[in-house]
Amino acid sequence: MDENSYQHKPLIGIDIGGTAIKGGIVNVQDGRLLGEPFRVPTPQPATPQAIAESVSRVADELSARPEAPEPGTPMGVTFPGIIQRGVVRSAANVDKSWLNTNIEALLSARLGLPVEVINDADAAGLAEARYGAGAGVAGTVLVITLGTGIGSAFISDGRLVPNTELGHLEIDGHNAESKASAAARERAGLSWNEYSLLLQRYLSHIEFLFSPELVIVGGGISERAHDYLPHIKLRVPIVPAVLRNEAGIIGAAGEAASNHQAILSHWAPATDTF
Ligand code: BGC
Repeated sequence: MDENSYQHKPLIGIDIGGTAIKGGIVNVQDGRLLGEPFRVPTPQPATPQAIAESVSRVADELSARPEAPEPGTPMGVTFPGIIQRGVVRSAANVDKSWLNTNIEALLSARLGLPVEVINDADAAGLAEARYGAGAGVAGTVLVITLGTGIGSAFISDGRLVPNTELGHLEIDGHNAESKASAAARERAGLSWNEYSLLLQRYLSHIEFLFSPELVIVGGGISERAHDYLPHIKLRVPIVPAVLRNEAGIIGAAGEAASNHQAILSHWAPATDTF
């Protein structure tokens, strides 16, 4: 199989979130979904075994469709924590039993195919940089996702620096995501104007630290961008994400396509690897 073979084939991407696990079949050439996404509620407690079961349900539904990838095609999956060489290294907003779990080995064994797992914001960021609001932008693009937590993707000339975790910057003595995430806004009952002030403080600091060419705001509340983005003033352009809820699915599938040789080389369909 030639190096780019998966760039011309459909791949499945699955996005593990706090409320839902969503998947879709992705044409990685143009970043579009083939057919409708499929979602199931995130099981509670969201333990590794329970999540693996739900991911498998999503994968089974998608794999049974006529436009599904060939059996054995690598699959891309996102997770809302640090992922280093397939292992979960942080669990800020998920069940703590995930810590140090080899999620790639767990899902590969459960699904019987090679799986690549990356951080959820990294996946969304890669999708926006490749196919969305950051397409064609040279230099540093920062994608900040505002949801239950704050996620970040740092992309330089199209290449991702993974696991940047800028949602956990300490600002004015607080972990940024505890004050400026979408969930924090709801918890504190803030108006959009009040929330804009917190976001301004956070995003100005990030702009100062990294001098990006473009800032893209994603996550659940990118749909309400008109309520807060007009109040945010940065030196550089700041725009809403365009791929919305599907960015994670698309980014995960795209990454699995790009990295398929590495994924295949360390994949063995054994069950005793985790
Ligand atoms: C996690 C990140 C994740 C973000 C968005 C944060 O709490 O530490 O890894 O990307 O939430 O889900």
